[in-house]
Amino acid sequence: DVEFENILLDQHGRLGVLTLNRPGALNALNTETFREIAEALDLVMENATIEALIVTGQGDKAFAAGADISELAQLDSAFAARDLSLAGQDVFQTLSTLPIPTVAVINGYALGGGLELALAADVRVAHPRAKLGLPEVTLGLIPGYGGTQRLPRLIGVGRALDLMLSGRQVDAQEALGMGLVNYVEEAPLEFAREYLSRLLDRGGPMAFGLIKEAVRRGMDTSLSDALEIEADMFGMVLATQDAKEGTRAFLEKRKANFKGE
Ligand code: CAA
Repeated sequence: DVEFENILLDQHGRLGVLTLNRPGALNALNTETFREIAEALDLVMENATIEALIVTGQGDKAFAAGADISELAQLDSAFAARDLSLAGQDVFQTLSTLPIPTVAVINGYALGGGLELALAADVRVAHPRAKLGLPEVTLGLIPGYGGTQRLPRLIGVGRALDLMLSGRQVDAQEALGMGLVNYVEEAPLEFAREYLSRLLDRGGPMAFGLIKEAVRRGMDTSLSDALEIEADMFGMVLATQDAKEGTRAFLEKRKANFKGE
């Protein structure tokens, strides 16, 4: 377990857990926190024994209440604001392109940059009291860490525009109904750990990475190009030892023993 100021990074067996740790500021994302998240994601990528990642917030009140508004208030030029946006987008893009399954455990408020962080994970689990939204418009701002792009891709343009133009908060049940979160659970962290353990027990690690890559790259392009990407990825996965082991294990009526190669 590595020492950080604004986050915690722990490993529990095969699972990494990255916890935003500024509960006094509702885990608001300042520049230093972003720098630490980037460093933590590098460590996760370098550590082959971490096979899945959970991202969550410390305390029972907030996952993250957004970008740190005191920093935003000090931005003094369009260039500085653009750079801040690009830097934050870059960190969340690193999260979304990790080749391992990731779950955001939304333990409380996920607003602005906090929701944008959760949108960069593969699956979202919310506590029943969680509140989600992109309230930037109420600050006279727009989302700047991927929200205007990832939210409509996830829940559709109409619902995304409703949330962004109104800046309203939705509770966990409404978020579930619109596909913004996948699960609502009283003990979301425990649920996420069990969910990921089950998933790691069942699936081939090479397949996890290639499914994510096919979906992500496909969403960036036309259906016909995307289908070619899928076929390319299918070709790649078939050449892996995992695919040989998985298909052979099925035919031999035994559990597959995947090696992630
Ligand atoms: N930035 C900095 N500090 C924040 C913060 C933020 N985004 N959100 C909360 N805090 C701080 C508060 O200033 C307060 O600090 P003090 O105790 O020192 O006064 C502390 O966290 C607790 O917050 P509140 O007293 O406000 O708690 P509350 O229960 O009354 O309200 C809340 C909770 C509704 C989440 C409210 O804190 C809130 O509206 N926060 C801001 C949400 C927001 O607008 N986020 C979007 C940020 S912009 C963005 O993210 C831009 C982008 O995409 C790039």
